[in-house]
Amino acid sequence: MKSFARKLLCISKEAEGGQASVMQMRHTVAITYKSVGTQTLVDRGTQTAPILGGRMFSQQKSLSKFPVPPLQQTLYKYLLQLQPLVGPEEYEQTKQIVDDFGKPEGMGEKLQMGLLQKFKRKDNWFADWWSDTAYLGYREPVVVNVSPGIIFPRQDFNSLEGQIEFAAKLIAGLLDYNYQIATQTLAVDMLGGQPLCMDQYHKILAACRIPGVKKDKFVVFPPYQVNSPRHIVVAHNNHFFALEVLDEDKKPFSLSTIYHQLKNIMDQSQVAAVPLGLLTTEHRNTWGKVYKTMKKDATNYHSFDKINRSLFMVCLDKSTHAEGHSFYDNIAREALYGGGSRSNSGNRWFDKTLQFLIRPDGGVGMCYEHSSAEGPPIITLVDHTLDFIANVLDSIDKPADETADIERLEFNINSKTVDIIDEAKSRLESLGDELQISIAPFTEFGKNYVKKQMMSPDAFIQMAFQLTYYKLHGEPTATYESGSLRKFQYGRTETIRSLSVDSQVFVKAMLNAASQPSEKVHLLRKAVAAHKAYTKDAMAGDGIDRHLLGLKLMAIEIGENVPEIFMDPSFSKSTHFRMSTSQVPAKHDLTMCFGPVAPDGYGLCYNPHPDHINFAITAYNTSPETDSDKFSRALRESLLEMKEALETAPPQSRL
Ligand code: COA
Repeated sequence: MKSFARKLLCISKEAEGGQASVMQMRHTVAITYKSVGTQTLVDRGTQTAPILGGRMFSQQKSLSKFPVPPLQQTLYKYLLQLQPLVGPEEYEQTKQIVDDFGKPEGMGEKLQMGLLQKFKRKDNWFADWWSDTAYLGYREPVVVNVSPGIIFPRQDFNSLEGQIEFAAKLIAGLLDYNYQIATQTLAVDMLGGQPLCMDQYHKILAACRIPGVKKDKFVVFPPYQVNSPRHIVVAHNNHFFALEVLDEDKKPFSLSTIYHQLKNIMDQSQVAAVPLGLLTTEHRNTWGKVYKTMKKDATNYHSFDKINRSLFMVCLDKSTHAEGHSFYDNIAREALYGGGSRSNSGNRWFDKTLQFLIRPDGGVGMCYEHSSAEGPPIITLVDHTLDFIANVLDSIDKPADETADIERLEFNINSKTVDIIDEAKSRLESLGDELQISIAPFTEFGKNYVKKQMMSPDAFIQMAFQLTYYKLHGEPTATYESGSLRKFQYGRTETIRSLSVDSQVFVKAMLNAASQPSEKVHLLRKAVAAHKAYTKDAMAGDGIDRHLLGLKLMAIEIGENVPEIFMDPSFSKSTHFRMSTSQVPAKHDLTMCFGPVAPDGYGLCYNPHPDHINFAITAYNTSPETDSDKFSRALRESLLEMKEALETAPPQSRL
């Protein structure tokens, strides 16, 4: 069996139903909706799913393997990016250490040989290491630290009725997407004319992170597997219910059936339950220990299994509003950590890969657990679902025409666990109090304006971040931008380092009252070009961060001491990312948000649209130096100053 197919069939030991196998599925899509674009009525009728290796995975075998960059190239680039960050003396000391590491037959060469051997053996030499270090071995709580939130545009309802109706349509839209994954009919994603790895798409539905005492694991139950799940989990008032949404032939139940069952669930959970879901906001070791003990009880085991295997989770929330925050700031809080124990944090299961929240006041969002995928596949799913919802034609308020099972998930909770839930509650309250979130759409211009100036919008925004940070802090900082590595088999991300010698020269010119607009524009273009060049290199496998981490992990793997290059203060400085940034584009007016990675830093997520840019900025109150609102105001000012320079420079100097 080809290794890719083998991976597709890899299932958890916890899965019921024994061996996985591939099968031909007969599947009828029962819900009628207008196809987007053509606005015609579409009834897909009965379709036969292709076997594994269908359209969605058709390019998989043609993808290259993620390369190991040449050692000297990485060391040269590492020193280059340190230049704006460390003083001359520190730089000279670090250069000595780097030269020593990279000398012929030195430690660097030995570790590089190890990586090259690993490259030969594996589909992706870095994938398991990344999964372990960035996700499953990470022990801090997943809330705010790991799992991003997504804020949907406010929906047009303001009642419990509207909440349930929207939830039913959302479920139907997600099932339609699940159908495309089951039949592998999704189009292959392309970037710059090149196909991308589609592996992440089959790891987002019916997937879950499972807490462990020292390390977590990730499980997935793909739809083409025998006994693949046919239920979702609905959370209401801290209760969890398994709701069957596909019949035995894997055909989705009708909208009206789902709608009536959601009403039943609400009726059955009027009194709030013990907020067990708060445990999923805990430190992973703490939660891992509780989970291990709890699952010895057969009832708990069954309920955990139902949650783990479910296709996704829908949280029917109450509308709460924290004083002093805007509507969207509140939804961001709900998405990132449930808004606190007095809000909806107990009505969540943060280990679940996909969790959607719907409030009666039209507030909608989601939280996703990051182990298996980056933002783009999730956003594609959300865009699809919102298109589906906008075009559903079926009437919802007719009697249910089928019987979809509802099962209340019961838990046996002892007094010790109740104490741990209480501790989780206070820890989460503190986290919520410390977190600042500013959801700040910038409406003066969008990516089309930047494109007309013949510049990359992404690089332009990154330069605005550099300018803003320097204005507020009087010094530069190491900056992380996520760049996709999906052109490689099982590729995830590489760091695009936005701070460069060129970005610093540009920032200083912008802040120098004597600089002329023509000089500012010239330096802006140079900095944007340097950023774009780094981006291209990083996405082609010639970045430095994954390689450096690989060299360090190789040293540990073969029992060597961690080399000095990684113990050097310059290395700590260059990986102390006080700006952690990511672009997540979406067709709909969505805003993604995530927490800062450094306690004294910012989380900066942006979604550029043709005529505006959505920004989500986070920081912690605990740092006296950072303030998300202040950053947001200064960022707006920076973007306008950059535009002003472009428009006031003499025409011949603008290009
Ligand atoms: N002149 C005119 N137009 C230009 C231009 C120039 N000099 N440079 C770029 N453009 C255009 C592009 O053609 C593109 O056009 P489109 O809107 O028609 O698609 C648009 O501007 C945007 O390009 P750019 O701003 O350069 O960014 P990008 O779309 O190439 O994205 C990354 C850059 C790094 C964000 C992207 O490649 C990536 O890796 N995304 C994934 C990040 C990720 O995984 N995030 C998730 C973390 S959870």
